[in-house]
Amino acid sequence: MTEKKEENNLMEKIVSLCKRRGFIFPGSEIYGGFAGTYDWGHFGVALKNNVQNSWWKKFVDSRRDMFGIDAAILMNSKVWEVAGHVANFADPLDGGQFNTMLKTEVGAKKDEVAVSYLRPETAQGIFVNFKNTVDAFHPKLPFGLAQMGKAFRNEIAPRDFLFRVREFEQMEIEYFLKEADWEKYFEYWRGEMLDWMEEVGIDMNKVHELEVSPEDRAHYSARTIDFEFDFPFGRKELFGLAYRTDFDLKNHKLDYLDEEESKKIIPHVIEPTFGVGRAVLSILLSAYCEDEKDGEVRPYLKFKPNIAPVICAVSPLLKNKPELVEYANTKVFAPLKAEFGRVIWDDNGNIGKRYRRQDEIGTPFCIVIDFDTLTDDTVTVRDRDTGEQERVKVGELVGFIKNKLD
Ligand code: GAP
Repeated sequence: MTEKKEENNLMEKIVSLCKRRGFIFPGSEIYGGFAGTYDWGHFGVALKNNVQNSWWKKFVDSRRDMFGIDAAILMNSKVWEVAGHVANFADPLDGGQFNTMLKTEVGAKKDEVAVSYLRPETAQGIFVNFKNTVDAFHPKLPFGLAQMGKAFRNEIAPRDFLFRVREFEQMEIEYFLKEADWEKYFEYWRGEMLDWMEEVGIDMNKVHELEVSPEDRAHYSARTIDFEFDFPFGRKELFGLAYRTDFDLKNHKLDYLDEEESKKIIPHVIEPTFGVGRAVLSILLSAYCEDEKDGEVRPYLKFKPNIAPVICAVSPLLKNKPELVEYANTKVFAPLKAEFGRVIWDDNGNIGKRYRRQDEIGTPFCIVIDFDTLTDDTVTVRDRDTGEQERVKVGELVGFIKNKLD
């Protein structure tokens, strides 16, 4: 098989696994679909939440210089005029320029109807709250605001599963600083972004940095690095890091009182930006593995335990033996569920089938309650990647799993 075919094959395998196992479904499917939209099923939501929680923990909760914000998607259209998006947020089409912002009308009465746009980036929701944040928290420079939320673009050609869609989520940081410090913090955020990619299990051998040329940079940027990923359909942008100068704050006529120098300045901005869908797609592609077990191909998702949608599955060896089911339910499933939440009960089919299902979901541990459990209070814990099993005392299970999460 040629390399290209194998790579296409990989995308097909991921898309079909995501649907079959309840991660991601095509949008509006029963009506023939709706291009550039996807719906997230139970395991997809769990995976996405883990990715977003890990981002928020690293970039907001574990720091003292970051503030969170969750701004409205609908904004006064002046925001987009002033920010340059009405004039510049466009892609070439039929020899002209096609503005990719999704326009809508807000309000009912004729003279009250206002044009608005579904935001094409979360960043502006941050800039327009710059003054509110400074007034409420009095932060010293440098400091940042972080936001996770939906963004919309009327992409001319949505394609490649989650890669290019019309409705997606971004995780963005605007880091405000003095102009003289921009190069230092550009470097700093470059490193932080790479660290996070590794933490969530993106294959770093497939990540490459591209210095974006001035003609290709967005209208607001004086320097941009794209972090590209080797997707099966080519090396493409995963995330970005931009030096937005004082472009946005200046246009919105916002400033900051520098107490050290007793004068008003316009802070400059470094912007690390992440697409949630592209993060999830690159994690899925990095995690997907196949090996041979008992003469059969075994596909499995080698998620890091902190990102896996399910941390462990609990199975009574036989579902028609009440004593096994009772033990599994009360002594194993209930305490694990209370502790970790992302724990599932799986008694469907024989053990081999359950393991294969959990391998495809990417569950790192399968716990089986058998007849020995009833006499010695131990269970088997099977490792997804090696297939090896060990016996663990029921009383030590929570600690055993917790250790694997670090
Ligand atoms: N605030 C800066 C900004 O929006 P961008 O490079 O246009 O910059 C940031 O978008 C990130 O959002 C991209 O790196 C990508 O991860 C994600 N993204 C952009 N357009 C997308 C689309 N149509 N579908 C999925 N993700 C997209």
